[in-house]
Amino acid sequence: MCGIFAYLNYLTPKSRQEVLDLLVTGLKRLEYRGYDSTGVAIDSPDNKNIVMVKRTGKVKVLEEAIQEHFSGGDYSEPVLTHIGIAHTRWATHGVPCERNSHPHRSDDGNGFVVVHNGIITNYNDVKTFLAKRGYEFESDTDTEVFAKLVHHLWKTHPTYSFRELVEQAILQVEGAFAIAVKSKHFPGECVASRRSSPLLVGIKTKTRLATDHIPILYGKDDKKQNLDQDADPGKPQVLPRSESTSEFMPLEEKEVEYFFASDASAVIEHTNRVIYLEDDDVAAVRDGTLSIHRLKKSLDDPHAREITTLKMEIQQIMKGNYDYFMQKEIFEQPDSVVNTMRGRVRFDGNAIVLGGIKDYIPEIKRCRRLMLIGCGTSYHSAVATRQLLEELTELPVMVELASDFLDRNTPIFRDDVCFFISQSGETADTLMALRYCKQRGALIVGITNTVGSSICRESHCGVHINAGPEIGVASTKAYTSQFISLVMFALVMSEDRLSLQQRRLEILQALSKLADQIREVLKLDTKVQELAKDLYQHKSLLIMGRGYNFATCLEGALKVKELTYMHSEGIMAGELKHGPLALVDDSMPVLMIVLRDPVYVKCMNALQQVTSRKGCPIIICEEGDEETQAFSSRHLEIPRTVDCLQGILTVIPMQLLSYHIAVLRGCDVDCPRNLAKSVTVE
Ligand code: AGP
Repeated sequence: MCGIFAYLNYLTPKSRQEVLDLLVTGLKRLEYRGYDSTGVAIDSPDNKNIVMVKRTGKVKVLEEAIQEHFSGGDYSEPVLTHIGIAHTRWATHGVPCERNSHPHRSDDGNGFVVVHNGIITNYNDVKTFLAKRGYEFESDTDTEVFAKLVHHLWKTHPTYSFRELVEQAILQVEGAFAIAVKSKHFPGECVASRRSSPLLVGIKTKTRLATDHIPILYGKDDKKQNLDQDADPGKPQVLPRSESTSEFMPLEEKEVEYFFASDASAVIEHTNRVIYLEDDDVAAVRDGTLSIHRLKKSLDDPHAREITTLKMEIQQIMKGNYDYFMQKEIFEQPDSVVNTMRGRVRFDGNAIVLGGIKDYIPEIKRCRRLMLIGCGTSYHSAVATRQLLEELTELPVMVELASDFLDRNTPIFRDDVCFFISQSGETADTLMALRYCKQRGALIVGITNTVGSSICRESHCGVHINAGPEIGVASTKAYTSQFISLVMFALVMSEDRLSLQQRRLEILQALSKLADQIREVLKLDTKVQELAKDLYQHKSLLIMGRGYNFATCLEGALKVKELTYMHSEGIMAGELKHGPLALVDDSMPVLMIVLRDPVYVKCMNALQQVTSRKGCPIIICEEGDEETQAFSSRHLEIPRTVDCLQGILTVIPMQLLSYHIAVLRGCDVDCPRNLAKSVTVE
């Protein structure tokens, strides 16, 4: 939900043109987070002003506007030190338009400019306060109040440093945010902070960094100021200054470049050294020196923030020979599933070790119930594995949509174990549900794909799914890796149950063949494309199945909806006769999953119910299953695997189908309308 990118070069000459190129490339990497409008702010050639360019639409539109706006000698002159900030937006407050695009400014003179991700929930109160003091607002956003609030504090507290001004503003606002602020009154400086929205600092130096951590600094007295008490104009009111403790030194480098970004994919081409900021950290760069401050001191705070080395490779965030990231990510699945199991599953010894939760297994085994909580695709991975978890853990397993779970104030107990499943690790509903369960004393297990994400950090323990960066807004490889992570957990939980050993062995053997079987399924691509040609002009697609494949129906329907804007519904085949059968006739597109598993006979009943109403379903069935294929001329054959892993093989044709329908309908595959990859608002 919105991407922030800022770049600061200190004693490393760069022309404004180069800075703009860096900002635009950074935004392109973050575009998946939101893409309805964009903007940048850099210094004017005379260094006296800040110039901004904003556009409605995607980064490409901004790039063209930048080329028009900034050309000529002034912009190609190298500058020793400079700071540029940039933003790609997913609208929450105010429609997508240039006026509502970030950066937002404090005043006509662009004194302070701000990029923001998240929602300032008390923005109306702050706006009223500022309006009474003569501030006029030019956008419908919550962000603008932040820029104007910093300006107000600067006016009333002239002795304050840039960081102190931003700190004071942060103390006044509520909600979730990541922000980066630039000011013409504080050239060459940048201040950034976060609360419940992700933000990291990338550090690039010519020589190896002398340290692997940045100490945390505290003000002696960082009190929230009473904003109602305006300063006496004749005698500037001075807030208690935050004097940093001197025993720690911040990061001082002679020549250095800093990047502030919503996620690592935007910085990896420049540096692999990053610091993930924590809630209420304030990172400030002044004279090339990075310091990290905390707004409030708490006893369990660490003394420093670690500089992490990213393991990500640049190729992982490039499209390569594929037309779309989603297509690349679908075809990566033979590798991504192996990466999820790598170092964890020992096929020779039939053993599984999940390092991130192994110490908690005894506690988990004693729990009252397991709760699996997530949104969208991540929720579907819970639906897909629930039956196996019930079977192998012999515990009650509840599967919950995070938003609904919170709406219901669901009772949670100290002996509950709650799994939070999230590709991004930043989904606000899931994160809120996590905090709700944590407050009630439950054990929190994170299943995420993003190292350093909020869910990762706030969990007691967890499994990193290792699917690699997923850029396409539609989740594909993360789903199959979440699925496998939960299967591995079920296997760990049952390792000492004698009666379950045969079943475990069967699953482990099936896991060892999975990558090759996914390769086989991917060969159906051309056939699926042909089916897409039959379907893409229709208005609706019903997807039916049951048992282990019901989750594929839900997930397939979600993929079709979000990518193609067609109506689609995942239907539990057992429910057909209770209503949905009324939709079936000779013109309604239907897809049915009918595999040789314990519910095969019931699925065949459903198939007959559909065909006897003149329905002509496309069938996903097992290789060589002529009996089932006899019901339709259109079928997709998938290799046989153990029942509980079928969902991995059946979901891939659905991913391919939605992809091809979207291409045929001329939809933007990687950036579907109205959506964003990471939903950091409730
Ligand atoms: C999937 O295709 C969706 N874009 C969406 O449903 C997604 O799975 C959901 O928003 C949850 O995201 P998360 O896994 O990052 O928490």
